[in-house]
Amino acid sequence: MFDTMTLTKIVGAFCGALLVFLLGGWTAQIVYGAYGGHDDHEQAYSIEVEGGDEGEAEEAVPFEEVFASADAAAGERVWGKCRACHMLEDGANGTGPHLYGVVGREVAAVAGFGYSGALADAADVWSPEALNGFLENPRGYAPGTSMGFAGLPKVEDRANLIAYLQGIGS
Ligand code: HEC
Repeated sequence: MFDTMTLTKIVGAFCGALLVFLLGGWTAQIVYGAYGGHDDHEQAYSIEVEGGDEGEAEEAVPFEEVFASADAAAGERVWGKCRACHMLEDGANGTGPHLYGVVGREVAAVAGFGYSGALADAADVWSPEALNGFLENPRGYAPGTSMGFAGLPKVEDRANLIAYLQGIGS
């Protein structure tokens, strides 16, 4: 009698455990399935983004060509990287000189700003091409410059930003 009870309890516990196990596996499958789906989506998305980040293939396209179809609205977003130090209002200097009308402006020409002297050696006028070179690698283009900015490696970013700057004050 007692043995049967024990046996029933053991079998019962076993069945219960089995049920929990099965349910758990089933739930995990659903959850994993859902996560798997998510991962797939995110991966597909980040592959697209990575594709856009590949500088090498893009560098093969000349700046002039990219600049010809540049998107000033996209450039305004890139400008966010500059605004810590630069302002666009005429005469408003910050850590860097104001950039009102900078495209076509003489290099190092803002009165009252303490330039390093390195820029004047690198260029005469901020043509789109000169800006492209400077913004890609400020210290490489103008060794000794006091502009503490690493540079914009993507040619699209530079072209779009220069198109945006061109629309301000010129
Ligand atoms: C950490 C601060 C800082 C950041 C960020 C920065 N700049 Fe500058 N920038 C400076 C300083 C300082 C100078 C003056 C450099 C010198 O005299 O050598 C300068 C100079 C310049 C000049 C030359 C202006 C002239 O009158 O000749 C241009 C153009 C310029 N920056 C554009 C940019 C752009 C575009 C960005 C964003 C992609 C940017 N800078 C980001 C600090 C900064």
